[in-house]
Amino acid sequence: ASGCKIGPSILNSDLANLGAECLRMLDSGADYLHLDVMDGHFVPNITFGHPVVESLRKQLGQDPFFDMHMMVSRPEQWVKPMAVAGANQYTFHLEATDNPGALIKDIRENGMKVGLAIKPGTTVEYLAPWANQIDMALVMTVEPGFGGQKFMEDMMPKVHWLRTQFPTLDIEVDGGVGPDTVQKCAEAGANMIVSGSAIMRSDDPRSVINLLRNVCSE
Ligand code: DX5
Ligand code: ZN
Repeated sequence: ASGCKIGPSILNSDLANLGAECLRMLDSGADYLHLDVMDGHFVPNITFGHPVVESLRKQLGQDPFFDMHMMVSRPEQWVKPMAVAGANQYTFHLEATDNPGALIKDIRENGMKVGLAIKPGTTVEYLAPWANQIDMALVMTVEPGFGGQKFMEDMMPKVHWLRTQFPTLDIEVDGGVGPDTVQKCAEAGANMIVSGSAIMRSDDPRSVINLLRNVCSE
């Protein structure tokens, strides 16, 4: 895909120094930040909420793009708080709501872009009816909840199908994506690449980010 963007996931970073870790990613050439919000209910893990996002926005300034990956059971609840805190995009899970249409509208009215995510067990046909109303589709390539899991290659047909049906839609992949797996994502049609441990584990994050962007954009 041309013009691929790389969004590091800071889930597996040094969370006691989250601001510095985000800065390190931006200084290393990250196109945006993928911020994983978990509520211990939709997924079996807890991370952080809008107060932390507000602090990050203050520390990092207005420029960095925050893609909020909302792994929460009641995504309706956090739209306004996240918007006020400085989120740019609100990516919620289709599995977590009965009324995606109302949520999409609310996110837009709060001035954010709309991302719609599906877990590995959710077929892509459920996402399709909303595709023309969203900015980005997120095809999970692991079960959400933890960083450092193995990439699920069998999710690639979902990406490919979406790319064929919706040529201009931003399509993000998340989970187990790194130098070894990014090419498959790109070939399927993904143009927004989330990568956590592959970047965080490296002592040269800039070169990993560049590599991911170059391979994806080929
Ligand atoms: C998983 C999160 C991902 C994860 C990615 O639930 O949504 O963003 O942190 O990390 P890696 O790249 O290590 O799988
Ligand atoms: Zn994520």
